[in-house]
Amino acid sequence: MDTKINGIAWTDGGFREGPAVILIHGFPFNRSMWEPQAEALSYIYRTVSYDVRGHGQSDAGDGQYSLEFFVDDLIDGMDHLKIENAVLCGLSMGGYIALRAVERHPDRFKGLVLCDTKSEADSDEVKIKRAAAVRAVKKDGVPPFASGFVKSVLTEKTLETRPDLVESVLKLMLGNSPLGISGALLAMAARTDTTAALAKMTLPALILVGQEDRLTPPSVSEAMMKRMPHAVMHVIPEAAHLSNLENPSVFNEQLLAFLKQFS
Ligand code: MLT
Repeated sequence: MDTKINGIAWTDGGFREGPAVILIHGFPFNRSMWEPQAEALSYIYRTVSYDVRGHGQSDAGDGQYSLEFFVDDLIDGMDHLKIENAVLCGLSMGGYIALRAVERHPDRFKGLVLCDTKSEADSDEVKIKRAAAVRAVKKDGVPPFASGFVKSVLTEKTLETRPDLVESVLKLMLGNSPLGISGALLAMAARTDTTAALAKMTLPALILVGQEDRLTPPSVSEAMMKRMPHAVMHVIPEAAHLSNLENPSVFNEQLLAFLKQFS
């Protein structure tokens, strides 16, 4: 079932009586990036996803966002869908939202899957790059930004040999407006650092990362895992930053094995 809750587009599907798993997409994509996972989970789990404010079918509004608003939207949607407790799975920006949501609302989550993400806030260097990206997207629109960004999120091999996947990733990005993209860039640049909170996250956690992820490399995931009391980590071969799309079979195998404890 697709529904809009206070401007946010949600899909609430899968096995209704199963434990809820909420999937949060990365920047600047939308919830359809979880299609290979939603299909695999749908027989056992209530499979829920949504478009982060400013992305996909969710409203862009005034384009002024904070990562705190993204967390508020998540909790608001859970309340409306009557999801008391869920396993949260976020990729990259989705991981930033998931980490902050668990820090702010520990009682609402019983498991955490962190994919190609990190707990650290932006460095000064990254903040400056975000400012340049905001300027570029506002001046030149989304297509040039998307053409550059796609090169940083897929492996060299995928870029050379899988034109269909490259095309579909580009399409995900081109569906977003300059206003939504700039708003998300500024929200990420201003987000808090959740590193200190990791030690207090006592829920079971799975960390997945593409072996060739250049934006959030495996070493960053490993540091995060070491700080979390109950985290395990798996490196996804033949994948970069979009590990769920580049190698869905290994990604899903690890995800389903982790989720078994909740079913
Ligand atoms: C993402 O995939 O969500 C982005 O790479 C996150 C970021 O730009 O920090």
